[in-house]
Amino acid sequence: MKRGIRRRGADAAAQHPHPMLSTDQRSDYAEQGFLVLPGFKRPHETAALARRAHELVEAFDPAQGASRFSTRDRSLVADERLLASAEAMHCFFEEEALDDAGRLVVPKARSINKIGHAMHDLDPVFGAFSKGPALAALAADLGLARPQVWQSMVIFKQPEIGGEVGWHQDASFFETEPVTVTTFWFAIEDATLDNGCLWAEPGGHRGERGTLRERYVNDAGRLHMERLSDRPWPDRDTAVPLPVEAGTLIVFHGLLPHCSAPNRSPRSRMAYTLHATCGTAAYSPRNWLQRSAALPVRGFD
Ligand code: FE2
Repeated sequence: MKRGIRRRGADAAAQHPHPMLSTDQRSDYAEQGFLVLPGFKRPHETAALARRAHELVEAFDPAQGASRFSTRDRSLVADERLLASAEAMHCFFEEEALDDAGRLVVPKARSINKIGHAMHDLDPVFGAFSKGPALAALAADLGLARPQVWQSMVIFKQPEIGGEVGWHQDASFFETEPVTVTTFWFAIEDATLDNGCLWAEPGGHRGERGTLRERYVNDAGRLHMERLSDRPWPDRDTAVPLPVEAGTLIVFHGLLPHCSAPNRSPRSRMAYTLHATCGTAAYSPRNWLQRSAALPVRGFD
C-alpha cells in the first residue's frame, strides 16, 4: 500500500462515546477527501448486521422478479424495481449469478450483489447500526448540517463472482446544491487487495480533479446517466487501495473518485454503506432516490 494515508486518532474516537474528530483528522479529510476510522464498529455489531443481511437473502424468493445489478450495464436493473427500492429492502443479483435464460448458476446465498435501499429505516437491526450518537457526532464534525440519510446498501462482493464497481463519484447519484453527499462505508468483513477493497484518489475531490463527471437522473421514470465532463478518471498511479479490517468505517466526500475491483478470491467482502446529505442543501427532484411522506428521510438520531 502506498504511504500517505494517515489513520491516527481513530481508535480513540471509536472508544469515546461521543467521538469528535481531531483537528488533524478534519484537515486530513479536507485534504484527502476521505478518512479511515478503524474499530468504529465492534465485532458484535458487524456480526449482527451480517447475520441480518443473510436472513434477508434467505427470506428472498428469487422468483419475485429480482434484477441483476451491474455498474457496467445499468439497463440490467429494471427502472421500476430500482425506484421502488427507495422505500424497500430489495435484493439485486450479481451479474454473473444468472445465465442468459435468467436461471441461477450459483446458490442463492451467493447470488446477491446487494440489498437496498431503505433498511436503515425499515429494519431494527439495520436501524440500530445506522443511527446513534457516534454517527451523529461524526456527521456534525464532517460538516453535515441536519443530515438526511437517504440510502443504505449491503454490498456482498461475493467470492469468485463479486462484480467490479467502476470509477465514479457518489455525488452523481445524490445531487444537492451545493454538493454535500457524504458516504459512510463500513467494512463488515475484512477488505483486502484480493477480495476487492476500495480504491480512491487522495485529494481527488478538490478543484478540477473533483469535477463531477456524470449525473444519474430520473427523467419521467426513465433512469439514465448524463455525461457532464470528459475529465478522465484516476489511474493506478494516482489512486491508492484502502484495505481495512472488519469494523472500520471509511467516510468520504461525494466528489471523491473511487472504485473497487472484482472479487475473484474465495472470500467475500461484505460492506454496508450509508449516504447522507445536508438538510440545508437543496436535494434535486431529478435524483433517482426520492422518499414519499410515508417514509420521510431522517438523520442519524
Ligand atoms: Fe460509490
